[in-house]
Amino acid sequence: MCGIIGYIGDHDAYPFLIKGLKWLEYRGYDSAGMALFNGHLSIFRKMGKVADLESYMQNQEFGGKTGIGHTRWATHGEPSDNNAHPHGSMNGWFTIVHNGIIENYAELKEGLVNKGYSFRSETDTEVLVNLMEYFYNQGTEICAEDAVMLALSKVTGTYGIAVLCSQESDCIIAARKGSPLSIGIGKGQFLIASDATAMAGFINQVVHLNDGDLVVLKKDSFTLKSISNKPVSVKISNIDIHIGDIGKGSFDHFMLKEIHEQPRVMEDTLRGRLQPEKSDIMLGGLISVMPDLVKSERIIIVGCGTSWHAALIGEYLIEEFARIPVEVEYASEFRYRNPVIGKNDVVILISQSGETADTLAALRLARDKGALVIGICNVVGSTLARDTDAGIYTHAGIEIGVASTKAFTAQLTVLTLLALKLAWERKTIGSLQYTQHINELAGVPEKIRQILLQSEKIRTIAEKHKSVRNSIYLGRGNLFPVALEGALKMKEISYIHAEGYAAGEMKHGPIALVDEHLPVIVLAPRDENYEKMASSIQEVKARKGNLIAIISEGDNDIREWVNDFIEIPETLPALIPLLGIIPLQLLAYHTAVYRECNVDQPRNLAKSVTVE
Ligand code: F6R
Repeated sequence: MCGIIGYIGDHDAYPFLIKGLKWLEYRGYDSAGMALFNGHLSIFRKMGKVADLESYMQNQEFGGKTGIGHTRWATHGEPSDNNAHPHGSMNGWFTIVHNGIIENYAELKEGLVNKGYSFRSETDTEVLVNLMEYFYNQGTEICAEDAVMLALSKVTGTYGIAVLCSQESDCIIAARKGSPLSIGIGKGQFLIASDATAMAGFINQVVHLNDGDLVVLKKDSFTLKSISNKPVSVKISNIDIHIGDIGKGSFDHFMLKEIHEQPRVMEDTLRGRLQPEKSDIMLGGLISVMPDLVKSERIIIVGCGTSWHAALIGEYLIEEFARIPVEVEYASEFRYRNPVIGKNDVVILISQSGETADTLAALRLARDKGALVIGICNVVGSTLARDTDAGIYTHAGIEIGVASTKAFTAQLTVLTLLALKLAWERKTIGSLQYTQHINELAGVPEKIRQILLQSEKIRTIAEKHKSVRNSIYLGRGNLFPVALEGALKMKEISYIHAEGYAAGEMKHGPIALVDEHLPVIVLAPRDENYEKMASSIQEVKARKGNLIAIISEGDNDIREWVNDFIEIPETLPALIPLLGIIPLQLLAYHTAVYRECNVDQPRNLAKSVTVE
């Protein structure tokens, strides 16, 4: 949520900033801006996309080897040129880009107004930058760095910031609390960014800032300390991001590319972990904690959005195979309700980005209560990956489309491996069943490839329903969360109101919605719930609902009762979610394209939700 980039070095800053902003646009895309220092400070801001800022700047004069940039997802103040970052202080001494929320901004603003400060925007950020200027003015011995620290000591809330001071123009000062920031180390240059991806191609070493860190970047050195001016040890990591990973290739949208990447992603997630030749599963990241996991009395899985849906499927899998009680929680609820957690509980946090504010807060809470905390995360080096006791990377590669697709299947893959491995260690699964699942799992990527071949058929189904206002998704058992996820995909990118329900709940209310205009998407493959789903289909059909069914290949019954059907290959019941979600992703994608929606950057959303 909001992307920050900064550059200081021997070269013109603009190309680094604009390129970085383009990578970061998935984090917020309602406005963008940058400040460049070239003897004096120039600020350029535009409502809209980074491309709008870029074309605006083509007609401007600018230069400079130091600069900061920002792409915004509005929190305080509507999207506008005026609310766009960077924000300057009243006298123009400080300029800031900010990701996060200053919760006590109203009180701080009042104090500054009383001291004669005036404000030009509706943002909380402008309060912070003026507070820096205020402290800077309190005495000649106070340098820019001191002023930043003093201002930060007064704020409550979260921030990732990069700051320029026109009086001390040889540095960028950056700090983090609750919003990610990484320093990129290059030859004769340093960058700073909310996501190391934005620096790909320019640097190959990074320092990930921790909460409470402050860094002063100069052209040829950097100093890392805490925001309360204490020394902090520096941990430099190599990064290996290839620019080639980030393009759309031959696809029209990142989302479509990422949907099609899923077979390969799943192979990557399984590689080295699924060992059919030994009939075993190896989870290297969990070796040290496996004994605790095996004897855990309860597992709580926490996440948001799509990751929460993966967690729900994880609950089915772990309870089914490993027989450990599992609870699933929204991170945003868990963190505020004083949950009962004991030392023998394990809390698993699932997050694609590893930076979701609520999930990180849940992590801290679980840790404070003494639980073993385990991460399932996609972004290497993210806060979640660094702050958990142990974890498993999903290896989905960079996910740019705001609607999560390949990260979800990778999360399901990891959860399936975990459930099976736990069951094996706990002796709640026999060797025959264990081996059968291992062998079948190895074949799932190929089955996903077969489903992807039906994209054209799914497009024609999407065309029929492109103008509806509402839709319902039904599933049972481990396909209920798949229904929720299918509905989420539809609403977030096509803006069609879509609800997922446990099919058995239909009769308790939602069936009142069914008429000939309502698409009802049913997950009805051959599994233990097949007969029950068949009944649900009949109930919808009797009320003239427009049925679209996901069925097993060769099912000649259900196809006769529904308006449209999409076949998926047969597999073991535990693995059906990995196949069942694919047609639903494609259905949402094609519907959104027909409706001319911005598939990769849906309105009001951002990829990484780093504010509450
Ligand atoms: C939906 C989507 C979001 C995320 C959610 C959690 O397509 O992408 O619902 O799943 O914001 O994000 P992570 O997994 O990064 O914690």
